[in-house]
Amino acid sequence: MSSITWSLGLRGLVADAIRVEVASQRGPSAFQLVGLAEASVREAHVRVRSALKLSGVEIDEYLLTVLLAPADIRKSGSLFDLAIAVALACEVRRLSQLENFAKTVWLGELSLSGAVRPVRGVLAAVLEAKRLGFERVVVPKDNGGEAAEEQGIEVCVVSSLAEALSFVGGGALDKARPVQTKSETVRSVDLSEVRGQFAARRALEIAAAGEHNLLMIGPPGSGKTMLARRLPTILPPLEYNEAREATALHSLAGLLRPQSGLLNQRPFRSPHHTLSSPAMAGGGTLIRPGEVSLAHGGVLFLDELLEFSRSTLEALRQPLEDRCIHLARARETAWFPAALTLIAAVNPCPCGYFGSTRCRCSADAVARYRRRLSGPVLDRIDLQVVLPPLPAADFVGREGESSANVLERVVAARSRQSERRQKLGLTARTNRDLSSAELTRAAPLSSEVRALLTQAVDGLGFSARGVASILRVARTIADLEMVAPVRPEHVAEAIQYRPLDRVSGAAQPSAASW
Ligand SMILES: Nc1ncnc2c1ncn2[C@@H]1O[C@H](COP(=O)(O)OP(=O)(O)OP(=O)(O)O)[C@@H](O)[C@H]1O
Ligand SMILES: [Mg+2]
Repeated sequence: MSSITWSLGLRGLVADAIRVEVASQRGPSAFQLVGLAEASVREAHVRVRSALKLSGVEIDEYLLTVLLAPADIRKSGSLFDLAIAVALACEVRRLSQLENFAKTVWLGELSLSGAVRPVRGVLAAVLEAKRLGFERVVVPKDNGGEAAEEQGIEVCVVSSLAEALSFVGGGALDKARPVQTKSETVRSVDLSEVRGQFAARRALEIAAAGEHNLLMIGPPGSGKTMLARRLPTILPPLEYNEAREATALHSLAGLLRPQSGLLNQRPFRSPHHTLSSPAMAGGGTLIRPGEVSLAHGGVLFLDELLEFSRSTLEALRQPLEDRCIHLARARETAWFPAALTLIAAVNPCPCGYFGSTRCRCSADAVARYRRRLSGPVLDRIDLQVVLPPLPAADFVGREGESSANVLERVVAARSRQSERRQKLGLTARTNRDLSSAELTRAAPLSSEVRALLTQAVDGLGFSARGVASILRVARTIADLEMVAPVRPEHVAEAIQYRPLDRVSGAAQPSAASW
């Protein structure tokens, strides 16, 4: 006799159905696991043997073979434990009920005592199980919340192997229940706390409205970090599909707390500058999403941008361009979405006090520092804004406008973009993604705008890429003002947000340009 259960092998957000087949013979106790299993899966026998024993199933008198098929797909991780243990228990007890579970997927890691422990990637696995035609997924109780809202597939939760075995024997399992994400995660910061810095506040609003990337340049203590941390408070709420994607990615990375539901806020990732390029892009033996994907649907904040290594910044290039990332490792490839808004902050010179008497940097040091700002990442940042040191008068001045007020304008500007998208059949969701061809349709140029742009190219040395970026931002500014055509004043404002390009080709911005 052989007993069969089903599990899933995840490759990023995609999964393969894995058939777990167990054969037994009476004989000297032995356990053989075949089917391209990595160390983490091969160790299953220790967990499974102990869990079965403590759940009342004795497998010591058998020679057991576990086959994970298809044999040419590499298996890693501990989520096959439950499927293996259920198949083994049915095999040694000669139970035939497993035939009723041909459309059931079992996911879960076992502890030595037989408890079912949470695993990564359950939401992605449930979505894939549905796509693969399964009708039921049994998941660890702690993972129930993330998968509970999925329609069209039954999601059951289990907290011990004994419960799973009683389910096979005809008992019942609880269904996964949606979890309300707790209010403790609600952000407690507000834009009103930021005083002065009107240009930077305006740039932040434009960034939120059109999903434009933003670079803030300013001395220490001018409010760069403070502003960046408040961007999520002026972004529209997560839509259901966005929440699902973001939750699936966080779950794959092992960042969801036990028993949590779908994420209810846009992610805000702010990795330290020592971050490696695989941690930025994603990778590892079990391919996991990196920072660019964890920020999907939200914000990636790179404070002290120039402290990040060149290779780490290089890893940003593809996701900033394509809004997704393809990862290729020795034996597998994966794809993750990475639609993020990049907010970067830098000081204007190595000491940070450029332009004031406190600055101790030589002209050479400043020029070298600024040259490092050009390149692949800067090319993809639509908005650059210079923050002056905060004047004392601003410190004691009035509070800034609240996040709620700004959010209202952002949401209205976003709806204008969606309406235009539908009307013109655009692929770009927001202005930031408008291709050159779409830009001509979304922002047709009047003769005045054309004249202004020609002047900008001739006089200020903007490249073609720079002009497209100016137009996208101008489109967003017009959307914020609820104005249909892009007007010269919108373009003029957008030009202000590219101070680093104003000297030919952006290769060597001069100190004077700041
Ligand atoms: N515009 C502002 N309004 C109100 N408080 C501010 C402002 N700017 C700075 N502060 C105060 O100064 C502190 C430091 O600001 P922040 O960390 O944002 O500066 P920064 O520009 O990121 O500096 P650094 O270059 O050192 O990282 C804030 O926590 C806040 O208390
Ligand atoms: Mg800072």
